[in-house]
Amino acid sequence: MWLINSPIGRKVVMSLTGICLILFLTFHLCMNAVALFSGDAYNTVCAFLGSNWYAVIGTIGLAALACIHIVYAFMLTAQNLRARGSERYAVTSRRPEVSWASQNMLVLGIIIVLGLGLHLFNFWYNMMFAELAGIATPIPPTHGYELIQQTFSNPVFVVLYIIWLVAIWFHLSHGFWSAMQTLGISGKIWLKRWQCIGLIYVSILMIAFVVIVLAFVFGLTNLCA
Ligand code: HEM
Repeated sequence: MWLINSPIGRKVVMSLTGICLILFLTFHLCMNAVALFSGDAYNTVCAFLGSNWYAVIGTIGLAALACIHIVYAFMLTAQNLRARGSERYAVTSRRPEVSWASQNMLVLGIIIVLGLGLHLFNFWYNMMFAELAGIATPIPPTHGYELIQQTFSNPVFVVLYIIWLVAIWFHLSHGFWSAMQTLGISGKIWLKRWQCIGLIYVSILMIAFVVIVLAFVFGLTNLCA
């Protein structure tokens, strides 16, 4: 099948799964932004998205998307290294138009996966998994607001989350327009436009996540209570 065997097919899979993950991030940001206004409303959303069958199916779908994206990232990197052969050991001057992010997508991806592991342990394990498995936790699984408050009361987590969010910003600042280019929604003019739109979109997305972390640190949440 060309989606597995051909280089362009693999890039298409990377692009489509990447775009779906960006859409998830957008949804996740909207959900987390609720905590800025009301802790109770946030906990209601968490209870709604708790361990219902549709939430579990959504989580399985999301995990499948993330796994496919990661496996294909390694396949594409191996393919690129093979294609470059011994040339990769030669000292070449870097073309100015090639961004740092585009040359370090795999490294950034690995940092993101490590951060995601920590994040899923902090929240998904203590919420959805605890509810499904009937594990007793100090904070009830539907009390996402209190769990975020507790997490960001620890400065180590605050620093780790900000590093993680910056790594995601770098990864997406290249990934967004690269996906558009692969899917062919990009000519000479549109390439520049997608680069600009992508940069603005992912910057808003990631700055908003950082704002939410800092709002919890400085007690600027639950503003409408
Ligand atoms: C301010 C930053 C963030 C906060 C406060 C936050 C908070 C949460 C919370 C409370 C949950 C559990 C929700 C539930 O199970 O109902 C969760 C789940 C999750 N978060 Fe985040 N999140 C943040 C950023 C991110 C980012 C940047 C990513 C992706 C790179 C991410 C990926 C996920 C995933 C994959 C899940 C599991 C979703 C599922 O169960 O379907 N989060 N997050």
